[in-house]
Amino acid sequence: MKFFVDTAEVEQIAELNALGMVDGVTTNPSLIVKSGRDIISVTREICSIVSGPVSAEVTATEAEAMIAEGRKLGEIADNIAVKVPLTWDGLKACKSLRDAGFMVNVTLCFSANQALLAAKAGASFISPFVGRLDDINLDGMALIEDIRIIFDNYGFQTEILAASIRTVNHVLDCARIGADVMTAPPAVIRSLANHPLTDKGLAAFLADIEKTGQKIL
Ligand code: G3P
Repeated sequence: MKFFVDTAEVEQIAELNALGMVDGVTTNPSLIVKSGRDIISVTREICSIVSGPVSAEVTATEAEAMIAEGRKLGEIADNIAVKVPLTWDGLKACKSLRDAGFMVNVTLCFSANQALLAAKAGASFISPFVGRLDDINLDGMALIEDIRIIFDNYGFQTEILAASIRTVNHVLDCARIGADVMTAPPAVIRSLANHPLTDKGLAAFLADIEKTGQKIL
């Protein structure tokens, strides 16, 4: 499973990228605002750090305007995936931008039928939002499962990019189901390393060796 990092914070992206943890980046208008940066300049900087797909989202809502914005974003770098919302206009923009050779990530997906439409419009990625479904007492992970079944049934090439990933268990479930990609905030990716038995075991090993006074260096 590929790991995308869901942030526009350049330092955090660079740190995780240096460890080989970043196969791509996703941003959205809220994350751009949170970074305090200009969308064009921060997106360009992210693309200079990461070689995998970097999603940059349009802010227009009408197809022609989305296409114009998408072309501008897509020209920032070869690894831009233009992000469009899963509306009828967004699907039109997806088809047009794909025909023009841009990668497209269709976002704000909350149903398997929406994902089916995005795949038929040629989306490179579909972004189902797991956490936001869980927030309203629906089963976000069931949506990932349904989309996996449907895409496999028909051989759609659109990659399932599980988004709105909030917990380590979300990550594990995505990997079990076979999501192609999961995107999570840096803190969630870092917390995958945590285990209390690792901490406990390490403390015991260090206490034992300390008693002998032995040093490796
Ligand atoms: O990038 C979109 C998505 O990952 C947002 O997550 O936590 O704001 O629902 P969240």
